[in-house]
Amino acid sequence: MTFQTNRTALITGASRGLGLALARELAQRGWQLILDARGTTALKKVQKELARQTFVTAISGDVTDPAHRRALAIAARAAGGLDAVVNNASFLGPSPQPELLDYPLDVLEQVYRVNVLAPLALLQAVRSELKPAVRVLNISSDAGVEAYPGWGGYGSSKAALEQLSAVLAAENPAWRVYWIDPGDMQTQMQQEAFPGEDISDRPLPETSVPGLIELLEGDRPSGRYQARALTEPPYEGAVELRVAYTVDNFDQAVEFYQNHLGLPLVDQWLSPEGRGVLLSAGRATLELVDPPQAALIDRIEVGRRVAGPVRLAFEVPDVTAATAALQAGGAKPLNGAVQTPWGDFNQRLQAPDGMQMTLFQVSTQD
Ligand SMILES: NC(=O)c1ccc[n+]([C@@H]2O[C@H](COP(=O)([O-])OP(=O)(O)OC[C@H]3O[C@@H](n4cnc5c(N)ncnc54)[C@H](OP(=O)(O)O)[C@@H]3O)[C@@H](O)[C@H]2O)c1
Repeated sequence: MTFQTNRTALITGASRGLGLALARELAQRGWQLILDARGTTALKKVQKELARQTFVTAISGDVTDPAHRRALAIAARAAGGLDAVVNNASFLGPSPQPELLDYPLDVLEQVYRVNVLAPLALLQAVRSELKPAVRVLNISSDAGVEAYPGWGGYGSSKAALEQLSAVLAAENPAWRVYWIDPGDMQTQMQQEAFPGEDISDRPLPETSVPGLIELLEGDRPSGRYQARALTEPPYEGAVELRVAYTVDNFDQAVEFYQNHLGLPLVDQWLSPEGRGVLLSAGRATLELVDPPQAALIDRIEVGRRVAGPVRLAFEVPDVTAATAALQAGGAKPLNGAVQTPWGDFNQRLQAPDGMQMTLFQVSTQD
């Protein structure tokens, strides 16, 4: 069978979990693969599955073993060099995880051997097979930056992997080095981290793969990334300002704002827990002012400081007519209407519920 492949990735720990999900996606996208894991049977099964789509070299062994890393380097040379190295194989440590003061140091050494030293040792072993713009993906964890009790062994090893990645990036500017939090995933490691717990609510590892593909095939600078955040649509800001206002006399307030101010009803709800209405107030904006500015507006509209931290302001087409309608609904004008220095015509009122309100009519003159 012949395949059109011009890119090769070496992925450690590819017999299950995230490594397998990534290998499957890369095979589909025509990448040539070099895969490892310690367990031969599972790895051979993966090789058989993916060999239908691409060239797959599967070498079982332990990433902490120098002879195994040499075998991977020989495979990399045979493949014509590496476009990507994904350091994914990892060791959680004891399950359940002990707190640091009880942590067996011989096991901690092994955690560091797998999670910190092996990724670097692998890069050293394959250094002459790395293409000039190679992508190095070191799979980390939120435990590498957050201080979760019980996660000190694994977490500190991931923190070390992250710093090692950052320095590698600084020392090798032609490379792209990424250290990545894949997020919680429904895998064997997650089950070991939470023994006996139902982990079926965790996302499948496949959900973290598109972010890794973005790093492998996109053009992101070296750095730390959260896999899933890479493919989430960008946050585009709030779409509505809704002022949630608690009123003691609910019926009076609804009558006042809906019928006298003329705000159309959008929605209403009634339940044993309470009542609410949603009134449309046209375009919503949020005006933030500092205390001197708030005092200035009070002085202009009323002549003295009257409002608390919140005041409602409504633009109306005719301040005189709107004021009359609100007075009929129980509002008290706090002053006559005033011409503001910026040209608007403003009327301050106090609504029956006590809220300070400004009605403003925007000047039509330029
Ligand atoms: N699962 C999560 O929620 C989660 C969260 C944050 C970060 N991560 C990180 O994501 C990565 C993948 O984790 P995963 O959850 O997919 O783990 P997993 O399901 O347990 O798979 C781990 C893979 O690595 C292989 N492996 C383990 N130790 C190895 C060694 N010494 N040498 C070679 N291969 C080895 C395993 O096969 P053998 O056992 O046969 O060797 C297996 O193929 C890890 O770096 C992990 O730290 C996971």
